[in-house]
Amino acid sequence: MNNPLRDPRDRRLPRIAGSCGLVMFGVTGDLARKKLMPAVYDLANRGLLPPAFALTGFARRDWEREDFQQVVHDSVKQYARTPFREETWKQLSEGIRFVQGTFDDPEAFATLRKTVEDLDRERGTGGNHAFYLSIPPSAFPQVIRQLRDSGLSAPKEDTWRRVVIEKPFGHDLESANELNDIVSEVFPADSVFRIDHYLGKETVQNLLALRFANQLFEPIWNSQYIDHVQITMAEDIGIGGRAGYYDGIGAARDVIQNHLLQLMALTAMEEPATFEASDLRTEKEKVLRAATLPADLGENTARGQYSAGWRGGEQVGGFLDEDGIAADSGTETYAAIRVDIPNRRWAGTPFYLRAGKRLGRRVTEIALVFKKAPSPYFQKVEGSDVGNNALVIRVQPDEGVTLRFGSKVPGTAMEVRDVTMDFAYGNSFTETSPEAYERLILDVLLGDPPLFPRHEEVALSWQILDPITSFWATQGQPDQYRSGTWGPASADAMLARDGRVWRRP
Ligand code: BG6
Repeated sequence: MNNPLRDPRDRRLPRIAGSCGLVMFGVTGDLARKKLMPAVYDLANRGLLPPAFALTGFARRDWEREDFQQVVHDSVKQYARTPFREETWKQLSEGIRFVQGTFDDPEAFATLRKTVEDLDRERGTGGNHAFYLSIPPSAFPQVIRQLRDSGLSAPKEDTWRRVVIEKPFGHDLESANELNDIVSEVFPADSVFRIDHYLGKETVQNLLALRFANQLFEPIWNSQYIDHVQITMAEDIGIGGRAGYYDGIGAARDVIQNHLLQLMALTAMEEPATFEASDLRTEKEKVLRAATLPADLGENTARGQYSAGWRGGEQVGGFLDEDGIAADSGTETYAAIRVDIPNRRWAGTPFYLRAGKRLGRRVTEIALVFKKAPSPYFQKVEGSDVGNNALVIRVQPDEGVTLRFGSKVPGTAMEVRDVTMDFAYGNSFTETSPEAYERLILDVLLGDPPLFPRHEEVALSWQILDPITSFWATQGQPDQYRSGTWGPASADAMLARDGRVWRRP
């Protein structure tokens, strides 16, 4: 198929979607407005959508087609990555449709079906349609069943129907399995695209290139050389207007179960036989299946809740003061866990995963921290500060890779200090990175699955997380940490017990 990772000869050919339509549920939500609609426009602007493309919105609002066109227009103007071009907009907007209705109304789905069939005739979308569910998970079952009952999920010969599901895929293993049963009753596995937008990030895909297109790193990518791995997803923002979603979910379910465990799997996996979906997913699954938790979860996990403090130069309130959050909410906004992967490559090298809101700054990185050099001489030289070497994959915002190592300080003494060698995307490439959603929406329209986790990965990730969230549920309130700091003291204590410290990126 079209995956550029697969065939080197095709690498420089643009991957352009064939004739098709995208139906979006949840078009009034933040994600659709800030990410999805702008990504569709950016794809169109880059010439990666066919002329025969249509975008249909489905929502309860009493809108006409023109109202929805205006909504898309405004979101594109405000959030698109590429410049606004009248020509692109004109072509895209001609293919925009809107269907008004609620998820429980079969009539509305009959209208949607008619709209889609009309598009096939008027725009030449060829019977190929993807349904993007950017809606609360509680509504998934109903919408999936309506797609079945209305006949929308069933493709005619030589056409396709696909469903795109936004996380969260359940809130624990049991609910994830239930959701999967419902989805797989209606759509075959290769028509289901589960979005984990971290996999669409350029720097995350670069992890595969870094590891497997180079000879330099792989020989030392194991427990003989690596002391431990730290995967950090720090955000400076609070929960914003997302109290309804976030309360009761918390940092571990929101991002560790998906984004961080996926990053861990990509960091720890063996080289896949090919970069096709099934080989890649199989290698990630092996890691998730091998992962274990320490016996003492009290000592090897930490959770916290932000209290009032600072964000940049601005004073901000605490989590419990946020609109829509109960005054006694036990939801964590910070979570840190230790995962061990006791296989031949990683036994003895723990992976520490942490994620939090309202931390010192926004940064996502994967840091491989190496063992100290055994040289007793350099350890003893006065004034020397020989730290651990580290290889840091900077996922965002300052995309790149850093290598930290010791170097002699100029002068007569043999004094050594840590220095860094940096690769920054901005200095090496003129192209800017596409947004994760551009890549992922294009892959859905192309039917290219490597960047979408399959159900087994989702289930294995819940299997890792469930014991932790069940344990926390018995432990009372999370610790507090001041907004603008690096999380609760218990997280530092957790690493200190292992003789390690968190990086301060
Ligand atoms: C989402 C989480 O998956 O990722 C949000 O639900 C989080 O809570 C967001 O803010 C962060 O995404 P990014 O791409 O800005 O790192």
